[in-house]
Amino acid sequence: MLRSIVLGIGSYLPARMVTNDELAQTVDTSDEWIRERTGITRRYFAAEGETTSDLAVAAAMRAIEDAGIEPASIDLVLVATSTPDNTFPATATAVQRKLGLPVGVAFDIQAVCAGFAYALSVADAMLVTGRVRRALVIGAETFSRILDFGDRSTCVLFGDGAGAMILSAVEASGRVTDRGVLATALGADGRQYDHLYVDGGVSATRTVGVLRMNGREVFRHAVQRLSEAAIEVVAKAGLRLADVDYLIPHQANRRIIEAVGKRLDLSADHVVMTVDQHANTSAASIPLALDVAVKDGRISQGDLLVLNAMGGGFTWGATLLRW
Ligand code: ACO
Repeated sequence: MLRSIVLGIGSYLPARMVTNDELAQTVDTSDEWIRERTGITRRYFAAEGETTSDLAVAAAMRAIEDAGIEPASIDLVLVATSTPDNTFPATATAVQRKLGLPVGVAFDIQAVCAGFAYALSVADAMLVTGRVRRALVIGAETFSRILDFGDRSTCVLFGDGAGAMILSAVEASGRVTDRGVLATALGADGRQYDHLYVDGGVSATRTVGVLRMNGREVFRHAVQRLSEAAIEVVAKAGLRLADVDYLIPHQANRRIIEAVGKRLDLSADHVVMTVDQHANTSAASIPLALDVAVKDGRISQGDLLVLNAMGGGFTWGATLLRW
């Protein structure tokens, strides 16, 4: 059988770092409030003219270098984003063009903060069925462009960034000791559409709109769905949560992450947390966090990882991956 294994990973943050104190100069908030309620200390904002595909390309170049592959061997480009460069074409095709990649398959995936989990699942399905051989999977966002800086309950939470992975299909034994994607789980519940959305869009208003959120409802559902997705994906592979070396959750809020860790009975040293450094970068948050934990040496070959996310829609998903 074929398995999708990760050959390389890379990430990119825009140059401009914005601390809580800097934000508090123009927004009615404080460093203390933001740290206490969310754990966030800083975020990064893209420069004027720096687009989602620019961030995606910078992360992709690092992932390609890390994998040591020929870019021309990539035949699938997936970009998970809710902040595309343009309404169309897909940001994935902009990435394809900027990287000088040959003809292949390229499209965007829109599942908000769960976008990377959705993209990994789609890439895995295409790889293990032999439809493509090598995938570049990216989560990239410029959420700073859809924030209402007059709404202190949302604008302090988000930042821009990108993370990318190179995956390849390889022959494997089919056992849980294999490297690569061992299981994926996805879900969505459109009844929760109104809790987290952007109040504009091509077809509804012909505008871009800004982010709106019912923070308390999002918090409640996030803890539940993130935990359930992790439990589901581990069970699918016939493994136990105690087998998991690291949980790499979507980075929205320290309190959400801690609550999920507690429900899954995983101690803090088994949970990767970067929300303090990056804020919530939506679809980019998982590959950004994973890249940090790989590069600082915490994660090594053979480790069992659970990646889980939840976002607007609501959408959620998890991936069980042996590094
Ligand atoms: N600075 C100072 N005060 C603030 C701020 C701010 N940035 N934002 C809100 N407040 C005030 C409110 O006005 C309110 O004041 P009041 O009591 O005088 O009315 C008070 O703080 C408490 O507000 P709450 O909304 O009750 O605060 P809560 O403790 O629920 O925290 C938060 C709000 C951080 C948004 C929380 O609900 C949360 O984290 N929700 C999850 C949201 C999230 O992470 N979304 C990310 C996208 S979805 C995802 O990625 C899973």
